[in-house]
Amino acid sequence: MKKKLTRFDLQQMKERGEKAVWMTAYDYTTAQLAEKAGMDMLLVGDSLGMAVYGYPGTVPVTVEQSLYHTEAVRRGAPNTFVIGDMPFGSYHGSVNDAVQNAVRYFKTCGVDCIKLEGGVRVAHIVRAIADNGMLVMGHVGLTPQSTAALGGFKAQGRTAESALAVIEDAQAVCEAGAFAILVEAVPPEVTRIIARELPIPVYGIGAGAECDGQVMIVSDILGVFQAFTPKFVKKYANLGAEMLKVFEAYIRDVKTGAFPAPEHTYSMLEGEIERLERMRKPRRPARSPRKRS
Ligand code: KIV
Repeated sequence: MKKKLTRFDLQQMKERGEKAVWMTAYDYTTAQLAEKAGMDMLLVGDSLGMAVYGYPGTVPVTVEQSLYHTEAVRRGAPNTFVIGDMPFGSYHGSVNDAVQNAVRYFKTCGVDCIKLEGGVRVAHIVRAIADNGMLVMGHVGLTPQSTAALGGFKAQGRTAESALAVIEDAQAVCEAGAFAILVEAVPPEVTRIIARELPIPVYGIGAGAECDGQVMIVSDILGVFQAFTPKFVKKYANLGAEMLKVFEAYIRDVKTGAFPAPEHTYSMLEGEIERLERMRKPRRPARSPRKRS
């Protein structure tokens, strides 16, 4: 049986230079397959707003929706490090509300840690959650919950000023007690500085190779997400096209009568159809319904 990683294993992997590999998952079956494949971690990202619910971004996702999917993933991957992703609004009010919302992920879903977006701005919240004995992962660089403020899904850290802000965000979250940080959509030069200078694991998505591991969105690597493909995505399959072929073939088969075939049906036990016929009273053949004028 696969051994579930702990924060200490992840820390040692960083120190050994061994990359951690993780991806998002939103459902039981995908989580089961990911665990079978040996995925180090699974994130039930608020990207589910786009990948599953068809929202234009992650902002509309609620805590209830997120918990619902996180529970399913936990059931599918009991021996994998699972990360719950706190949605927009769940840590934007009082510190106490943020702590209580974080608690829900551990209590109802059995996550191994929660992740929240932001740097200097949320450091006090990271500290409060960590001080209450919960494991927190930071998320800096492009933070999709703030795309309105950032002016869209734009790479960060491309100028010296912006790079400095990303680095300071990462430092603030680390000092506040985060055990790891995700850096999204920043140039590799910036990621390298963060990964080398911070003592904790630094993971990337669209942030180059010079960090302690990578995460990808499952619907991107499978090639099922249709709306757009970010520059940093590597599609490992084109399952969207395959699914389309399957759906078309199924429609064709049912319309033409090719499906279901005898091998897809149940047979009655021997002699039972004759018994049934004897049990049924003779009936007049049904008339077709009269048209109303
Ligand atoms: O919600 C999510 O899927 C994320 C990705 C950027 C990994 O946070």
